[in-house]
Amino acid sequence: MVRKNEIFGIAVVAILCLLLIGFSQKDTPNYHNRPARYQQLLDLEETFRISNNSATVPTPSIQDVISQQRNIILQELEDYKFPVGDNLEDYTLVTGGQPLRTVIITTWRSGSTFLGDVVNAVPGNYYHYEPLLDYGIMQIRGAPHSESALRTLKSLLNCDYTNLHKYLEFGMDHVYLFTHNTRLWNQCEVYQQYCWNATFLNDFCKLFPFQSMKTVRLRLWLAETLLNDEELNVKVVLLVRDPRGTIQSRKHRDWCPGEPDCDQPNNLCADMVSDYSAAIQLKKRYPERFRAMRYEDLSLNPYDTIRDLFDFLGLYFHNNVVRFLDSHTRVNVGGVSSTFRDSRSAPFHWKMDLNYTEVQFIEENCDEAMKLWGYVRSKNSSTLRDLNPLTSFEIN
Ligand SMILES: *[C@@H]1O[C@H](CO)[C@@H](O)[C@H](O)[C@H]1NC(C)=O
Ligand SMILES: *[C@@H]1O[C@H](CO)[C@@H](O)[C@H](O)[C@H]1NC(C)=O
Ligand SMILES: *[C@@H]1O[C@H](CO)[C@@H](O)[C@H](O)[C@H]1NC(C)=O
Ligand SMILES: *[C@@H]1O[C@H](CO)[C@@H](O)[C@H](O)[C@H]1NC(C)=O
Repeated sequence: MVRKNEIFGIAVVAILCLLLIGFSQKDTPNYHNRPARYQQLLDLEETFRISNNSATVPTPSIQDVISQQRNIILQELEDYKFPVGDNLEDYTLVTGGQPLRTVIITTWRSGSTFLGDVVNAVPGNYYHYEPLLDYGIMQIRGAPHSESALRTLKSLLNCDYTNLHKYLEFGMDHVYLFTHNTRLWNQCEVYQQYCWNATFLNDFCKLFPFQSMKTVRLRLWLAETLLNDEELNVKVVLLVRDPRGTIQSRKHRDWCPGEPDCDQPNNLCADMVSDYSAAIQLKKRYPERFRAMRYEDLSLNPYDTIRDLFDFLGLYFHNNVVRFLDSHTRVNVGGVSSTFRDSRSAPFHWKMDLNYTEVQFIEENCDEAMKLWGYVRSKNSSTLRDLNPLTSFEIN
């Protein structure tokens, strides 16, 4: 009798333990941050339980994940206002539509993470983050790398991963290639077996009406290959930053020092001069599809700048975007009572962080680039703090 009770007791404890393990697994921190994803996952499990009473939940097929994502996109876009018509099908590749494509061209540490994430806050956006990561710390200014780089960009913008083995292999070891693509990454976290599979990615990508991309390695004149591809119908944004801010920010990255394309102001500023000439040409040839902007203007006036940029891009200034700007430009770094706005001061940290010898060195190497893009040289070390480094610039 005693024996029986003991076994019963052990069984009860064992069941309790299993239940606890089950709950704690469902309570992983990831899902805490993503209530919607969590619910979606539960719904999916529920679907499979109802359709099959057996204890093991079969793994959803690629097609299951794709149709699940189609529903998520439909939900996300419920209150979205398309520029022309109201049909998602007109904008997705899977239905033979034409996505709105945006490419941000810039260089390292010029504020493109922020701008890229703003665009990605648009519901239904698929974000090709830094597709040329596997080229390393180098600028692509022409042959021999420009051809393969442009081929990669075009394939991605057409959702064709079939021949991108190198890109995908690199991504498997450097997942930040995909983590900024939040809508893809949400599924990658659940279905790791599909994440780097070209078949899956081709179908997944084609569901999205908005395709955005940012690259820090391709110089602007090469982007004409994208602009003159009528079928691609891409819009290109050049994002520029004060070289003193860029160089200061790069100093704090361990991958930059010792790489001449990254830590040498003369290389950075020669690229800025060449980008300026390219910008004049592109604006003349593609006035509706090319635009240049400065990180400092974006930071000082994020709402107006983004609203204006979205008009140009044909994107709707959705509540998600407003919320993103609210949470990323109104951070009170100095505490609750501080009026210190992170986004307003971020571009100008270089004034505190660089010593005057460094400032002068950059200014000597960047005289022309700074004049062209409207950045003001400092007079002397004692007036640096009060310097307004911005003046206007014009592209024509
Ligand atoms: C449930 O799935 C198992 C294994 O996948 C299968 O053998 C079984 O026939 C299914 N049952 C029903 C009711 O669909
Ligand atoms: C991708 O997934 C499909 C379907 O599951 C499979 O047939 C194919 O072999 C996978 N490709 C790779 C490269 O793993
Ligand atoms: C300025 O900074 C550079 C690099 O950090 C350093 O080598 C140099 O000694 C500094 N100069 C002065 C005057 O502090
Ligand atoms: C720095 O420049 C300001 C304004 O041009 C001038 O008034 C000041 O005397 C200068 N200081 C030094 C140390 O040269």
